[in-house]
Amino acid sequence: MDDGPGPPPKKPMMPIGFTAQMLEDQTSPGAQLFIKTCAQCHDLPSPQLHTAEEWPDVVTRMVNRVRRRRFFSSQKLFVPGNKNAEKIAEYLSAHALKKADDTLMNDTSPTGQLFQRKCTQCHALPDPKLHTASEWPNVIERMRGNIERMQKEAISNSEKEELVRYLSERGRV
Ligand code: HEC
Ligand code: HEC
Repeated sequence: MDDGPGPPPKKPMMPIGFTAQMLEDQTSPGAQLFIKTCAQCHDLPSPQLHTAEEWPDVVTRMVNRVRRRRFFSSQKLFVPGNKNAEKIAEYLSAHALKKADDTLMNDTSPTGQLFQRKCTQCHALPDPKLHTASEWPNVIERMRGNIERMQKEAISNSEKEELVRYLSERGRV
């Protein structure tokens, strides 16, 4: 169907497919508050989307959004108080993405640069030690799915191979 010219379709805000059932410690008070608060405007974000250092600021920004939204609209929203917002930030920080150390962030080799470019499109540069050589191919394959859904820069087959080699050499044994 042709609707004529209009605004370009919006890129999805959150990769779909992450659900509360996938959370660690999902019965903890922090997780419960996170679920109650953070799926009101978009899909529930994965705690792995940010590092422990990044989460507190993101939570503050989002809680301010809920406060504004509730103030300006008749929508019934759950608004966490400061104590509860802190609990959400603590929960997310405890289950956050572990980021690569500075050596990798400053690696100027071609593959190092490829890793930095492709793997920081949605989150911080991940620590290769998070996975073993046998796990990395599947993780990168899952990231390709995330890239497709979020319409980010794709990873070709040869780039995937290069990244698997780079991450596996530095991975957990
Ligand atoms: C009132 C609606 C609303 C609620 C509730 C909300 N968000 Fe958001 N969120 C947004 C909007 C709008 C965006 C896109 C603009 C932006 O990034 O600020 C967004 C984007 C995001 C992003 C992607 C951008 C980034 O900075 O990584 C993350 C992650 C996120 N939200 C996490 C959360 C968390 C955690 C909570 C619960 C504390 C939450 N959101 C609650 C509206 C909301
Ligand atoms: C399109 C956005 C996007 C890009 C680009 C991306 N990721 Fe992710 N990544 C995610 C999302 C969303 C999650 C949390 C949900 C999940 O695990 O699929 C995540 C989580 C992770 C995790 C933690 C979960 C786990 O299985 O250990 C690692 C490690 C990771 N990404 C590595 C990478 C690597 C390596 C690259 C580059 C090849 C990359 N990511 C590129 C979106 C992305």
